[in-house]
Amino acid sequence: MSAAPIVFSHRHLLGIEGLSGGEIASILDLADRYVRQNRQIDKKQNTLRGRTLVLLFFENSTRTRASFELAGKRLGADCVVMTTEGSSIKKGETLIDTAMTLNAMHPDVLVVRHQDSGAVNLLSQKVNCSVINAGDGSHEHPTQALLDALTIRRRKGRLEGLTVAICGDILHSRVARSNIHLLRTMGAKVRVVAPVTLLPGHIDKWGVEVHHDMKRGLADADIVMMLRLQLERMNGAFVPSLREYFHFYGLDYAKLGVAKPDALIMHPGPMNRGVEIDPEVADDIDRSLIREQVEMGVAVRMACLDALARHLPNLPAGMAK
Ligand code: NCD
Repeated sequence: MSAAPIVFSHRHLLGIEGLSGGEIASILDLADRYVRQNRQIDKKQNTLRGRTLVLLFFENSTRTRASFELAGKRLGADCVVMTTEGSSIKKGETLIDTAMTLNAMHPDVLVVRHQDSGAVNLLSQKVNCSVINAGDGSHEHPTQALLDALTIRRRKGRLEGLTVAICGDILHSRVARSNIHLLRTMGAKVRVVAPVTLLPGHIDKWGVEVHHDMKRGLADADIVMMLRLQLERMNGAFVPSLREYFHFYGLDYAKLGVAKPDALIMHPGPMNRGVEIDPEVADDIDRSLIREQVEMGVAVRMACLDALARHLPNLPAGMAK
């Protein structure tokens, strides 16, 4: 499979911003093939045999961490998972010192999640290996946008021309930023729907339609993407109460009624049922793609690792030929 041609010549995957439509389509095509492989009994291949993948997570994660680990293992890499809890970060070691320590062990790919926007980019300048951003603060989460795009493309057959409404805590969401870059690059029309307090000040420069009312924002939408309130990134009150937030911005059947009859619902997880989404809507097997997004996550991360691995050096860093 790794012989399939791919248009992607970057050393790192730090964000969707800067990727071309051709590069995005190429990763999605490769991921489609990995979806098929992941549905077989034998899910393993040797593309990354001999390579070392280190996952460095400074923030909590279920889906992203597990799917990167599975992706690496299915491609034959050795995987090490480091989290803040079990590492010397707890003892006061800095981000860069931790990264340099891991770098000395010659990993080939470092997958990093960090609470500060820009931290992963900074780290990529200090190490010899390829770096994948698994979410940095409220900046970017490129593999989430790619898996969302794969999920949409498989269901709707295209991205171009679709109307996608992204609703909720846009201000703190790296998922929203990466999705907006990707969807616009691929020719979709993007709307954001949120109270003023949950929108960034410069939202008018993002090339999206802005709505404060769910019924207007969801009118004739093809895709409704709900976001979690990122309470851990808020200091102070951004919404009056969770009950009131659900009343105005929580997705229920009444609000969904104005979207296209075949509109599909997405959520990157973790979900707060009864806050941004009605549990019944979230579990609606005809409308909700939430489980499918998780499945696509493994395939997309395999495709990203495969794409980056094609540009990894074949000699250890610093070794003479
Ligand atoms: C998202 C994240 O961490 O940015 N989750 C994920 O990766 N699936 C969204 C969130 O935490 O709300």
